[in-house]
Amino acid sequence: MRFAMAAAVSGLAMMAGWAAAGETPSQADAKAQALLEQMTQDEKMSLLHGPMLALVQRSKRPDGVVIGAGYVAGVPRLGIPALTETDASLGVSNLNNQRPGDVATALPSGLAVASSWDPEVAYRGGAMIGAEAHAKGFNVMLAGGVNLVRDPRGGRNFEYLGEDPLLAGRLVGRAIAGVQSNHIVATIKHFAMNDQETGRNVLSVTMAETPMRESDLLAFQIGIETGDPGSVMCGYNRVNGVYACENPFLLNDVLRRDWGFKGWVMSDWGAVHSTEALVHGLDQQSGDQLDLKKYFSASLEEEIAQGRVPQAAVDTAVRRIVRTLFARGVIDNPAVPGGSIDYDAHAAVAQATAEAGMVLLRNERDVLPLAATAKRIAVIGGHADIGVLSGGGSSQVTPVGGFALVVKRPGTGASSFASRSYGPSSPLAALRAGRPDASVEFNDGHDPAAAAALARDADVAIVFVEKWATEAEDAKDLALEDGQDALIAAVAAANPRTVVVLETGNAVSMPWRDQVQGILAAWFPGQRGGEAIARVLTGAVNPSGRLPITFPASEKQLPNPMLPGGDAQPADKETRAVYGIQAGLKPFDISYPEGSDVGYRWFAKTGARPLYAFGYGLSYTRFHYDGLKVAGGDTLRVRFTVTNTGGREGADVPQVYVSRNGRAKRLIGWDKPTLKPGESREVTVTADPRVIGDFDAKAQRWVVPAGDYRVEVGASAEDVALAGMTHLGRQTIKP
Ligand code: BGC
Repeated sequence: MRFAMAAAVSGLAMMAGWAAAGETPSQADAKAQALLEQMTQDEKMSLLHGPMLALVQRSKRPDGVVIGAGYVAGVPRLGIPALTETDASLGVSNLNNQRPGDVATALPSGLAVASSWDPEVAYRGGAMIGAEAHAKGFNVMLAGGVNLVRDPRGGRNFEYLGEDPLLAGRLVGRAIAGVQSNHIVATIKHFAMNDQETGRNVLSVTMAETPMRESDLLAFQIGIETGDPGSVMCGYNRVNGVYACENPFLLNDVLRRDWGFKGWVMSDWGAVHSTEALVHGLDQQSGDQLDLKKYFSASLEEEIAQGRVPQAAVDTAVRRIVRTLFARGVIDNPAVPGGSIDYDAHAAVAQATAEAGMVLLRNERDVLPLAATAKRIAVIGGHADIGVLSGGGSSQVTPVGGFALVVKRPGTGASSFASRSYGPSSPLAALRAGRPDASVEFNDGHDPAAAAALARDADVAIVFVEKWATEAEDAKDLALEDGQDALIAAVAAANPRTVVVLETGNAVSMPWRDQVQGILAAWFPGQRGGEAIARVLTGAVNPSGRLPITFPASEKQLPNPMLPGGDAQPADKETRAVYGIQAGLKPFDISYPEGSDVGYRWFAKTGARPLYAFGYGLSYTRFHYDGLKVAGGDTLRVRFTVTNTGGREGADVPQVYVSRNGRAKRLIGWDKPTLKPGESREVTVTADPRVIGDFDAKAQRWVVPAGDYRVEVGASAEDVALAGMTHLGRQTIKP
């Protein structure tokens, strides 16, 4: 009963979202239908496809249009604007400098946002990006990547929101709502199971419906309910043998029939393989020069003429696109290039996001925050004198101020996929500014002996290490590269008060962990990453990030110790498939043996101890949990009290996990209270039944079986501070 109420409430929230952004659903439908009836066939067809403008000859580009990843001509006669599309998850990207010199505020990576465990941090980042996009003339943002992190070698994990469907779904939903608060469309992507880069254009994920519904699909479902995106982008890969962009199970059955999605489905760039895709649920071919054929223009006309594709399929797709433009307010609030942008205010959003997402992993002997008595500080490596690293690929933002350093891969051009780019926010400069009383010396780390010598004479040594990640390519393993492990070992041997700052797009291995006193995961920290790192190190900010992914102790603990397809398709530059340009890749099938038990669930199931557990992160203060009360019956509701027992104000992320006989624990909720020393707060978490239940594929229902459920409250997936049991009655919920 209560579950039905929860669903009704979320339905109302969606309605509220519509009303805030544009027309109500029925007004949008009516207006779209009226326009459809006035459109010629050519006008309809023009909405179903578009090129990547950067690849179109300058003389053939439409006048005055901002260049982004995608462009779809509108119908000016009827007031339907062209769709101007840009990548966007981490800021308004400028792929390969296609808008020469155009900069934008660079948010930290998705993993940093996810580490905040704070949906409002995600919202504020989305709202900021959406405002910049609108001011630059974009009305569709390819923002909202929510593929689950299944493998810590995944090249795009940095763009996504972690390994848990509830956490990732809620955060992406709020990020989307933020983007769309600017009268533009956000695009949740890459639907679905596009969880690795190796072979992404050709691989097929073999997985039964139940585990898919309980993992990746649930993340999308929650994201769509929470954020109501106007568009869904289907992925490159195949799912159970069928390309995601022509997969009727995904697009027609799950997305539209079961979830009631009313927006439009656009393809990823180079992900279309047939004209029949239109009948199977795809509405729009994006970047259409990248596919083998212009399936949704020239080929479509032929297929309609031959009667192989019904005209009704064209009308349906057009209606979906136009109604979404009304519903999201795109038509009434046109995005015109040249709007004003408050870059200072936006930099503050980027910095606040980075600060909320820093995860303190180790703090022996309270090496952090840096003691006032630490007057000689050695800063080593990681280009900390210059800036902070960002991830590569279509999400690459050219930050305000321009890149501080771009390191091209030998033999490649200046492609965003092949250059390590550093934003102009130097942690060294920020530390010097934060500690004017100290002498802060830098060594670039190239010579471990010289770095160790600097560390030996210092009160504390801070080693910056980095591991770049990029779209279209997975890492071969978890190790830091270029001798950075040896550098840390040498510095730690010279000075036990060593702190490591990680700038990575993933979990990494740490053979030196026990030799250092501090470890801070800063991810790719964005526009003001250097300042954010410095403020955490000096204690101006009390770290409150928690891991949204598990850090495994080694690849051997993973469900796939070798990356699926890693043998058939080495993830090197010769075989990289970028934008569907496939360098002779052969199709192959992969499976993910963990199924719905992604990440910490797999570790719980196998009993393996990770290096750092999902949900883990330290603070400069301490928290205590007590007073657990668990209510069962038809709703699982958990209450407990969090108290700050340390000496500083700080935010904590108490987490609630539920398990039952034969099934690994699952996160059902969390909170993020900020507490003064001695302050307590009661936290209430109510389970979403889909997280505690199973998806019954035969009955096409979520089922919460009657039985006893174990509830655990803790500071990570491994920590059990409080535990209790309760009994739940059987529930079934629509898919
Ligand atoms: C990526 C998408 C992106 C698109 C347009 C593709 O390579 O997979 O995430 O939106 O390019 O740039």
